[in-house]
Amino acid sequence: MCVIGASGKLGRHLVRHALERGYEVVGVCRERSVGKLAEFEGRITVVPGQTDDRAVIARAVAGCDAVLTVLVPWGVHHYASGTAQAVLDHARPGARLVFSCGWHISRDGEDVYTRGFRIYAAVFGRLARLARFVDVDDQVEACRRVFESDTRWTVVRGSDLEDGESQGLPVWSRHVGDPILGGNRTRRVDYALFMVEAVEDDGLVHEAPAIVGRLTPSALAHARP
Ligand SMILES: NC(=O)c1ccc[n+]([C@@H]2O[C@H](COP(=O)([O-])OP(=O)(O)OC[C@H]3O[C@@H](n4cnc5c(N)ncnc54)[C@H](OP(=O)(O)O)[C@@H]3O)[C@@H](O)[C@H]2O)c1
Repeated sequence: MCVIGASGKLGRHLVRHALERGYEVVGVCRERSVGKLAEFEGRITVVPGQTDDRAVIARAVAGCDAVLTVLVPWGVHHYASGTAQAVLDHARPGARLVFSCGWHISRDGEDVYTRGFRIYAAVFGRLARLARFVDVDDQVEACRRVFESDTRWTVVRGSDLEDGESQGLPVWSRHVGDPILGGNRTRRVDYALFMVEAVEDDGLVHEAPAIVGRLTPSALAHARP
């Protein structure tokens, strides 16, 4: 299993879950961040490099049955879409590909966002792009390419995140705005759990589940028994 963006908070949870499940793990992260993977020394293979570097990705995903990608829209040079494209092009045919992103990504335009969410996304997106540190539109483009690909993909759309102990596998729905997602809060450790479990869940192939913590009030009220 390859974890792309392994040194971040979500990435390290992905590596931990993967190792616990007995996967052989390859992690990709920026050269300067390799030290953040010290806890896994001797247990994973680290391929240092930018995640949109096609040669780095080709080397890292070679022979992997699954690739988990933390999609982040840093900078204004198409980092997210470059990363996604490299994974789509180089993962072996038939590999399970699981990508992370936020609720703001919509697969079919059927998501219903609160006014507050829309205003926050618009203002943050514009300011971040002006400051040239994040390009949210590029994460949208990255996901568009994934949705259109004929690979075995899943795009896991995260709610607001928090740290803390695991509460178990998050619940999911196809559309933001569905009552079960109202709690809008997921533990990072459980976001990672969902992504790793998705690898073996064929029911999630070609799905873009929006997830929420299983102990949020909305999940408790609306989850199927
Ligand atoms: N944060 C939220 O509330 C939230 C909500 C919903 C969904 N999500 C999704 O969850 C995923 C993880 O997000 P996160 O916020 O929790 O962050 P995170 O897990 O800490 O990961 C951040 C990633 O971005 C990389 N990074 C940081 N600065 C960078 C730069 N200048 N250039 C290139 N890479 C850089 C980090 O690599 P280094 O280790 O090398 O710095 C790390 O791999 C993302 O897909 C995000 O869309 C987040």
